[in-house]
Amino acid sequence: MATTNLPQAAGIIGAAVPRIDGPLKTTGTARYSTDRHFPGLAHAVLVQSTIGKGRIRSLDTSAAEKMPGVVLVLRHGNLQNVFRTIPREQDGSMAEQRPPFDDDRIYYWGQYIAAVVAETLEQANAAADAIKVEYEAEAPDVRPDLSEGFTGTPVPSWKRGDPDQALSTAPVTVDETYVTPVETHNPMEMHSTVAVWDGDSVTIYDGTQGVVGHRTVMSEVLGVPRENVRTISRFIGSGFGGKLSPWPQATIAAAAARQLNRPVKISVDRRMMFSNVGHRPRTQQRIRLGATQDGKLTAIRHDFFTETSLLDDFVERCGEQTPFLYSCPNLIVTTSMARRGVGTPAPMRGPGAVPGLFALESAIDELAIKLKMDPVELRIKNDAERDESTNKPFSSRHLKECYTTGAEKIGWKNRTPGVGSMRRNGKVIGWGVAGASWGAARIPCSASVELCPNGRVCVRCATQDIGTGTYTLFAQIAHAKTGVPLDRIDVFLGDTNLPDGPTSGGSMVTSAILPATTSAMDQAVTRLLHIAALTPGSPFHGAQPDTLTIAEGRVVSKQGQPQVVGAAFSSSSSSAANGLPFEEVLLLANLGSVTGAGKTFPSFEDPKVREYSLHSFGAHFAEVEWEPDIAHIRVSRIFSIFDCGRIINAKAGANQILGAAVMGVSMSLFEETLHDHRTGQPINGNFADYLVATCADCPDLDVTFLDYPDLVVNEYGARGIGEIGMAGVAPAITSAVYHATGIRVRQLPVRIEDLLQSKILEA
Ligand code: MOS
Repeated sequence: MATTNLPQAAGIIGAAVPRIDGPLKTTGTARYSTDRHFPGLAHAVLVQSTIGKGRIRSLDTSAAEKMPGVVLVLRHGNLQNVFRTIPREQDGSMAEQRPPFDDDRIYYWGQYIAAVVAETLEQANAAADAIKVEYEAEAPDVRPDLSEGFTGTPVPSWKRGDPDQALSTAPVTVDETYVTPVETHNPMEMHSTVAVWDGDSVTIYDGTQGVVGHRTVMSEVLGVPRENVRTISRFIGSGFGGKLSPWPQATIAAAAARQLNRPVKISVDRRMMFSNVGHRPRTQQRIRLGATQDGKLTAIRHDFFTETSLLDDFVERCGEQTPFLYSCPNLIVTTSMARRGVGTPAPMRGPGAVPGLFALESAIDELAIKLKMDPVELRIKNDAERDESTNKPFSSRHLKECYTTGAEKIGWKNRTPGVGSMRRNGKVIGWGVAGASWGAARIPCSASVELCPNGRVCVRCATQDIGTGTYTLFAQIAHAKTGVPLDRIDVFLGDTNLPDGPTSGGSMVTSAILPATTSAMDQAVTRLLHIAALTPGSPFHGAQPDTLTIAEGRVVSKQGQPQVVGAAFSSSSSSAANGLPFEEVLLLANLGSVTGAGKTFPSFEDPKVREYSLHSFGAHFAEVEWEPDIAHIRVSRIFSIFDCGRIINAKAGANQILGAAVMGVSMSLFEETLHDHRTGQPINGNFADYLVATCADCPDLDVTFLDYPDLVVNEYGARGIGEIGMAGVAPAITSAVYHATGIRVRQLPVRIEDLLQSKILEA
C-alpha cells in the first residue's frame, strides 16, 4: 500500500461543491457543438435507409439537387478523400468502421445513404425528402434469441479449477438464463458536428466524450496530419458512453465542409439516435452456480451471447466482474458474439458490468432462496479476500461493509423472507439486494496551470466534462493548492489545443486528472514563492523560499500564516491577512504569469500499482411496492452504499450514484428498443414509445459513500464513480419484485404480463 500523506489544508476536497459551470448551463449560455454558428455555414441533413438489409438499386437525387438552396448531395461515389481508420481500442477508432456511403449495401435499418447540404436547414430537409430510392430488399436478421444461427465457438476466459466437474457434484445448483434487451442511449443532447476548414486545417465541434481520440481518428479519416485537426467539445449534454468515439455524421460534416469550402453543421435527430449512434446490445447469459448446503460457492459458469452488428466486432463484456466478485475455486466465463442486422453497439454506462451483474446477482439471489439463506449473509460468506482471478490483493475493498451498512439503513433484520410476507399501507412490500463493482485505473493525463497578474488562476486540460462535474474538480484542486476563491479560477477543457487529457470514459477521469493537476499547481506555486523571494521590493525579498507558502491566494511566511478558508469558497476579503496577494508578486516582478505543468503516470506502467487488483464496489438495497388489485409495481426506495475510494466532491459524487440508480430503475421497468422483424426498424425509436423513468417513477434515493481513500490509485485516494452506480440496481429490483410477487423476472424489463401471473392477490 502506498503511504503518501493526504493533501493538507484541503477543506474543499471532499466538500459538496456546486458545479462551477452550473450557471452557464441553467442560463443557456453554455455553447454546445450545435450552438456554433459561422458566416456561410451550410446545413446538412442525413437520409436514412428504409430497409434493413439488401442493396440500393437506384438513388435518384436529380430533383433534390435542383431544389432551392441545395449546394451538395453526398452519396455512394462522391464522398472525396475519406479513409478507413486503423482499428484500435474502442475510444481510439471510429465507432462504425465502415466509411459512410462506402458501398451500395444496406447493413441495418436507418443506415445513412445520402446527405443533403443546403443554405438552410428547411431547404436541406425538403430536398432530403425529394430523394428517390429503390432497393433490392432482403429480410434482416434481428432475431431476439441470440443463440439462433450461432455457428461460432464460445471464447473462454478466466478459467480456474474444473467448473464442470464441480457443477456436476455440487449439492445445490442454479442454472438459469438471463436476458437484457437493446437499450438506447438517450442523452438530452443528441450527436452533432460542425466542421470549419481553414485551408488544409479543420476545426471540428462535436459533442464528443474524448476530444484527443476524436482528433486522432478524424485525422486518419480525413487523410490530414493530426496537427491539422482541432476538436472542440466544451460542453456535453451527456453521452453515457454513446459519444466515446466519433460516429459517421462527423465524417460526413467534415468531408462536406472540405468539398464545399464552407462550414457545415449536421445534427442527428432523436429517431436516428435509435439506429445510427450505438446502443447497449442485447445479451443472453446462462449462469450456473454450484454450492454446498451451507452456502459456500463451489462453481461459477457464466456463458453469454452479446449482440453485435454486421460491420463491427463490439463485445459487451458481461463476464468482467464475475471472476473476482466472489471467492470460488472453479470458474469459467465464455463469450459468444451474435451478429444481427442492427447498427453497431457502443459502451453504455457500466458496459459489461451492468448486464453481467444483472445475471450473476440474480442467480445469487436464486441460490439464496434455494439454500433458504439470507442473500446478504450468502454474499458476505462468499466475499473474496483477494482477487482470485489474478491472485493479487485488492488495493482497497470494503464490499462487506457496503452490505452491512445497507442492511442497517433499510432495517434488513426485520425482513421476512416469505414471498408476499411484508405489508405497509395497504401494499405488499418486497426487498432485494445486489452488489456492484467497476474497475479502476490511473490513465495518462497532462495539465497546465497559470497564475495571472489579474488575480485569476487558469487550469487547462484537453479532457472534457461530460456533465459529471469535471470542471469543478479542477477548480477544487486549484483552490485547495492556493486558497484562491472559485470565482477567480478559470478552467479550460474540451479542446485539443490544450494539454492532452483522457477520454471521459470508464469512470477514470477523476483519478487521472488529480496527479497531473496537483503537480502542475505545486510547480506553479513553488515558482511563485521563489519569485517572491528573489524580487526586489517584495516584502519577502531575500527570504528562503521554503519559509514561504500560499494561503487565501496570498504569499505569506509560514509563521503568521492566516487561517485557510475552509467552507467559504466565494471571494472573501482576506482581512487580517499579512503577506501579499500573488498577483501583486507578479506585478512587482513584471511577470505576465507563472505557469506549472504536470503529468499523471499511468497505473499500467507503474509496477507498484500492478501488484494490486483495482476496483470500486457497492451495494444497492431496493424496495418495491406491489398493489395486486391493479397489478402495479413501483420502486419506492433504494439505498446505495458505495466504496469508490475517497470522494472529491460529495455533491457531484452523490449525483452520479443518484442518476445511475434512476437509470437502473429505467432499465428494470421500462427500457427496451424493439426491432421490427420484417424491416429491422426500431419500432419504438422515439420518446413517445421508448419509455424512460420520469420523476414520478423515481424512488426515494439514499446514497452513502464509505469514503476509504485508495492510496494505490493516487495521492487523494479517489477512484471513479460514473458507471458503477448503475450496476446492481436491476437485480436488486427484480429480487425485490420476486420477494413481493413471487415472480422471478429473468428477462428485462419487468412487464405487467409477468406480474399478472403473481399469486399474491391481496395486500
Ligand atoms: Mo462510459 S460507458 O465509458 O461513457
